[in-house]
Amino acid sequence: PRPVQIIPSVLPADFGKLGADCKKLEDAGCDRIQFDVMDGNFVPNLTFGPDTIKWCRGYTSLPFETQLMVSEKCTDAMLPQFTEVTKGPNGEPGVVIIHVEACTHLHRALSNIRAAGGSPSVALNPHTPAEMIENVLDLVDHVLVMTVNPGFGGQAYIPTMTEKIRKIRKWIVDRDLDVDIEVDGGIKATKETIGACAEAGANCFIAGSGLFAYDDMAQGVKELTQMALE
Ligand code: DX5
Repeated sequence: PRPVQIIPSVLPADFGKLGADCKKLEDAGCDRIQFDVMDGNFVPNLTFGPDTIKWCRGYTSLPFETQLMVSEKCTDAMLPQFTEVTKGPNGEPGVVIIHVEACTHLHRALSNIRAAGGSPSVALNPHTPAEMIENVLDLVDHVLVMTVNPGFGGQAYIPTMTEKIRKIRKWIVDRDLDVDIEVDGGIKATKETIGACAEAGANCFIAGSGLFAYDDMAQGVKELTQMALE
């Protein structure tokens, strides 16, 4: 089985001290940090651009992941910058996630991320059929199945997404591909959320409110990991 990875979303963090919060997440034992980029167009919320991610680089050595919940125009204009600022301290590839719903030329965009030294990944909104990404599975390192409607933290897990995870995992196994499945939205240390997703084939778990709710985040990482492995 693929290694379980716990990836906090910074959405619930204090943006006034985001760097320090990144360090806290590293100390808590997280595997990677997800920066939710929102442009107020693709989703009805607005967070930050590449510079904010760049300034967080110096606070932690953890790998970064950038989920681009932005319009196609923004993706076209800024993909190289986002790929650059998401890289590791020594230029290691960072995970750059494009939404299939915001990319007419997804096959080319994912190839461009890899060519620019990034780790390409694709995200699906809850309504989007898994088939929409079937023909780019050979180009990505991760598929991100959104288990809430993107834009905000603190929403409830959408249980019908569990079978979508299972379908994608079957494709990956049948084709002997080296692809992680990430899930994002409403993930808590419960059998109904992280447990169900892990059983269906997900191995990377993004948690926002589900992790920031813990005073001791290390305890949160531990409980999330245990529930994923049960
Ligand atoms: C939603 C973001 C998620 C969100 C998860 O658009 O992409 O990463 O922050 O938050 P929770 O874990 O609270 O659902």
